Amino acid sequence: MLKGDFPVDRFRGLRTPFYYYDLPLLRRTLDAVQEQLDRNPDFRMHYAVKANFNPRILAEIASRGFGADCVSGGEVQAALDAGFAPERIVYAGVGKSDEEILLALRAGIARFNVESAAELEVIDSLAASMGCVAPVSLRINPDIGAHTHAGITTGLAENKFGINYEQLDEVMELALGLEHIRYCGLHFHIGSQILDMMDFTALCNRVNELVVRLQRGGRPVGDINVGGGLGINYQHPNHLPVADFGAYFDTFRRHLRLPQGTPVHFELGRSIVAPCGSLIARVLYVKQGTHKQFAIIDGSMTELVRPAMYRAYHRVENLTSDEPEEVYDVVGPVCESSDVFIKEFAMDRCRRGDFVAVRSAGAYGESMASRYNCHPLPEAYFFEG
Ligand code: LLP
Repeated sequence: MLKGDFPVDRFRGLRTPFYYYDLPLLRRTLDAVQEQLDRNPDFRMHYAVKANFNPRILAEIASRGFGADCVSGGEVQAALDAGFAPERIVYAGVGKSDEEILLALRAGIARFNVESAAELEVIDSLAASMGCVAPVSLRINPDIGAHTHAGITTGLAENKFGINYEQLDEVMELALGLEHIRYCGLHFHIGSQILDMMDFTALCNRVNELVVRLQRGGRPVGDINVGGGLGINYQHPNHLPVADFGAYFDTFRRHLRLPQGTPVHFELGRSIVAPCGSLIARVLYVKQGTHKQFAIIDGSMTELVRPAMYRAYHRVENLTSDEPEEVYDVVGPVCESSDVFIKEFAMDRCRRGDFVAVRSAGAYGESMASRYNCHPLPEAYFFEG
């Protein structure tokens, strides 16, 4: 959505800050994913609910027949409420509580992505108490580094996620021996905002290695879930609004060596929803500091924590002004020095009351909002197209 396409006149009656979602862009993105799935009949998509669980967004994605990837009982429930079929819901997480496991068993989800031997035993006993069998994949920590920021790598041995791949045989033995566990496959996830396809190639090589190891040991392989992680272009939201799904899926098609017909599951979150969302805020004050000029907006780290938490880049646009650019640190009102969206950033001259859009905020924006400083949670509005 170009600057001039934001309906600023309609924004005037709304309380800022709020999220604004471009549904036609979400639909174009989902079409692009579907086009890839049509070319690769063994590929299955489970949208990562953590990226954005706004009911309207979830319903749009569920209507495509995609599955859901969840990391809590709350997310399983949100996915069910939005219309995702339970047999397409997968559930990962290092710390599933008994209550969450029971909810997922009752719902009849497709898969528990199990992250430790201890968890396997708990799921077995809870399934026994319900007289059912739990479908399980083993989440393996592949010890693959992803070239992204340290806060969002997940597949290194030092990260808390998954079962150390050296212990695969041992845990597999346990899984196969438990009466209320049905072993179904392997699960991986190496991190997020990954733009270097070599990282995914490295994951494919690790998967191939483990598959051969299982086959040599005469063990079942089942299906393969490679997680999510495809990045988007935060620098150019207008020129490159749809992620490079072609390069991503091609990497797996070319590098995975699996028995014919093995289903391959994907759990993309960010690349599906990030581009379609903007945080809309109003300029409260422009302040000249000793060395800097600050544009103080009413949006903050409580609505969008990514810049404060990961020093993540989000492009900021002044939607109201066409005046010559000036350089600003764009900051929020929260009592934390880290409540900064962007530093030393040139944008059209700001005046009190101008609307600004913080772009590419559809993933891990609204879903990570907090009530810090007693801020209300942000509302969401939709451009229907
Ligand atoms: N599958 C698993 C097991 C995951 O842990 C994640 C994300 C995904 C799939 C989806 O990854 P995506 O396609 O969205 O990269 N809050 C951080 C990102 C945390 C990602 C956590 N796991 C951020 O704002 O950058």
